[in-house]
Amino acid sequence: MEIRLAQPQDLAGWMELVEKIRFSFPGLETPEAMEAHRQTVRSFMCRGWAVCAVERQRIAGVLLFSAEDNTLCFLAVDPAFRRRHAAAGMVACGLAHMDPRRAVTVTTYREGHPAGTAARAFYKSLGFAEGKLAEEFGSPVQEFVLAPGARRAAPADGRP
Ligand SMILES: CC(C)(COP(=O)(O)OP(=O)(O)OC[C@H]1O[C@@H](n2cnc3c(N)ncnc32)[C@H](O)[C@@H]1OP(=O)(O)O)[C@@H](O)C(=O)NCCC(=O)NCCS
Repeated sequence: MEIRLAQPQDLAGWMELVEKIRFSFPGLETPEAMEAHRQTVRSFMCRGWAVCAVERQRIAGVLLFSAEDNTLCFLAVDPAFRRRHAAAGMVACGLAHMDPRRAVTVTTYREGHPAGTAARAFYKSLGFAEGKLAEEFGSPVQEFVLAPGARRAAPADGRP
């Protein structure tokens, strides 16, 4: 599986994946929200803040990050490609573009929410620690924080 920065020509394949998993994310329920998200993805791609995992020309995973805020903003892997370290590879690629002297943050579901089980285990496996409780799009979430120095070596991505 190839892990690389995404380009605007990846947008159609990227949005096909988002369409598939949109109901796992608060804030993508309506066509208007999806259109706004599409514009966000395009602008992140133009800034070099979008990473994708690609297998046989199909977008298998997507990550948006902000190198300005040192945050991971959106992460998803196609269910058909999970547990092959696509997400770990994409996060490693994103981290390489972020300031290693500052903590990296991400928000995800709180403990006990079934939709958050994989994500919470995933972030912990990378060395993120549980942080403050918050709300996003009216949903209760929790921040996870990767302290400077807590970064772990990236695993080999794209297991067969
Ligand atoms: C969370 C998500 C991105 C993980 O993607 P992935 O490519 O399957 O993750 P990886 O293969 O890179 O996992 C790396 C490690 O994270 C942990 N992990 C990942 N998924 C897990 C799960 N379902 N249960 C337990 N641990 C898990 C494991 O330690 C795994 O290493 P291992 O397979 O060698 O044991 C994916 O499940 C997903 O898209 N979920 C729905 C959307 C979502 O929750 N996005 C994040 C919201 S902030």
